[in-house]
Amino acid sequence: MRTEQTLTSALANLLRVDCALDKAKSVRQLVAQWQNGGYVTIGSERPPVRPGRPNRPQLRPPREVPRRRIGKATGGRIALVHAIAHIELNAIDLALDMACRYVAHRLPNDFYNDWLAVADDEARHFLMLLDRLAAMDARYGDLPAHDGLWQAAQETTDDLLGRLAIAPLVLEARGLDVTPSMIDRLQAAADPETAAAFTIIMNDEIGHVAIGKKWFDYVCGMQRRDPVSTWHQLVGTYFRGALKPPFNISARTAANFSAAFYAPMAERTDLYDSPRR
Ligand SMILES: [Fe+2]
Ligand SMILES: [Fe+2]
Repeated sequence: MRTEQTLTSALANLLRVDCALDKAKSVRQLVAQWQNGGYVTIGSERPPVRPGRPNRPQLRPPREVPRRRIGKATGGRIALVHAIAHIELNAIDLALDMACRYVAHRLPNDFYNDWLAVADDEARHFLMLLDRLAAMDARYGDLPAHDGLWQAAQETTDDLLGRLAIAPLVLEARGLDVTPSMIDRLQAAADPETAAAFTIIMNDEIGHVAIGKKWFDYVCGMQRRDPVSTWHQLVGTYFRGALKPPFNISARTAANFSAAFYAPMAERTDLYDSPRR
């Protein structure tokens, strides 16, 4: 069904939603509407400075967030799934924000297709992890969480290339490095259902890094900038600290993200091994 509402006003409204469950379900509806030609115009409504969030989880400094020791006892696995669900909720907001914030750059429709497809994936991931929490008698909001992901992205609010350099190509790419060992530990802890959910997430996230890289290259091209040196400069500006090896080189390469970008920014030069998977 066609709507008079612009895409950006629908996205800004969605970003303001506090309830995480409502937000995730509504994202899936909005993306289906977009894909069916339901939005005639992009518009130019600004997204909120900070997205709506539920009262719980409480946001605390990273060192006060429960550790994610994965074993047969459910406590560590609940902490892990809760932490990743929180990352997925942030990822929903980041994808919606990407599709709403940078309209002044007059990006092609494909940009919106890509980031809305990412938002839909993130909503699916979040809902899948809510199911895993429910299976362990837990809910999103039961544990504190930290706000590092949103804060890291917020620094690039006014800089499309900076946002593309950091959100998909530092933060999501880091997920490719660390998820395979989580899957192995979940399997070792006899939790194949959660391992399967993380495997779906891992495969989808390769696509998200690829989309980030595609648009980073595109905007560099439009601005006649060299992608590799521009990425080094932006990561130096917006990301505190060096990148942590070991890198999942095969997954990064599958996302068209070559080591020419990240290897020179690593904190060590001795560990460029791929994890097993
Ligand atoms: Fe995700
Ligand atoms: Fe993602």
